[in-house]
Amino acid sequence: DKMVKLIAGNWKMHGTADSLAEVRAIAEWARKFEGGVEVALCLPATLIHRAAEAVPGFTIGAQDLHHMEKGAHTGDICAAMLHDAGASMVIVGHSERREAHREADADVRAKAEAGLAAGLKVILCVGESLEVREAGRAEQTVAAQVDASLPRTAVDPAVFSVAYEPIWAIGTGKVAEPIDIEEMHRAIRERLVSAYGEAGTGVRILYGGSVKASNAAEIFAVREVGGALVGGASLTAADFLPIVEAGA
Ligand code: G3H
Repeated sequence: DKMVKLIAGNWKMHGTADSLAEVRAIAEWARKFEGGVEVALCLPATLIHRAAEAVPGFTIGAQDLHHMEKGAHTGDICAAMLHDAGASMVIVGHSERREAHREADADVRAKAEAGLAAGLKVILCVGESLEVREAGRAEQTVAAQVDASLPRTAVDPAVFSVAYEPIWAIGTGKVAEPIDIEEMHRAIRERLVSAYGEAGTGVRILYGGSVKASNAAEIFAVREVGGALVGGASLTAADFLPIVEAGA
């Protein structure tokens, strides 16, 4: 499996100008692994432009977008605006958006399509709650999320990834077992191939949920893991860089 891993940090609602030093340190260090691993930081919207100017050539992303091109949508930001600010990537469908902003699969799909249409790389997130896992319905739930959230347009695996993030593993320190990650990633792969045929075999499936330096190598060794979406451990170069190194 020679797929280059994608390791994306998701800063969530963290970071002001003070944090640009961390962005610089991460980008500079990531350059050493160019070709062996793809690294990105998805920042709060307010930091995107400054970060993109500070680290030209490094991938800066956003964490959400509005699916429409313009209009009366107070507080929202569209794909072209993100692109204009210097973003080249966007996360869609994170469970924190699905839960706190009631985003449904159809919304997530529209956002993914809008991001791709504007030339942004897209990371589409899916994942089950603890309740669903305990009820034995994790795989069917995530497969249904994937089916309903995937862009209906053709996808290029270079610019489209899916992140599997079990909600109970996000920010909790609990990591899914390698066997559970493998089974879920295999189920997601099936759905991707069913949707896109050959192109679906190349789409990277990232794992997310309490990834850190101490568990990254084990997670990256799991079959079908094409990278990671890292929250808390992406906020500083000291925490994030060992994860990048493990994926290189
Ligand atoms: O997008 C990132 C995930 O929600 C994981 O967050 O690494 O802090 O658990 P975490």
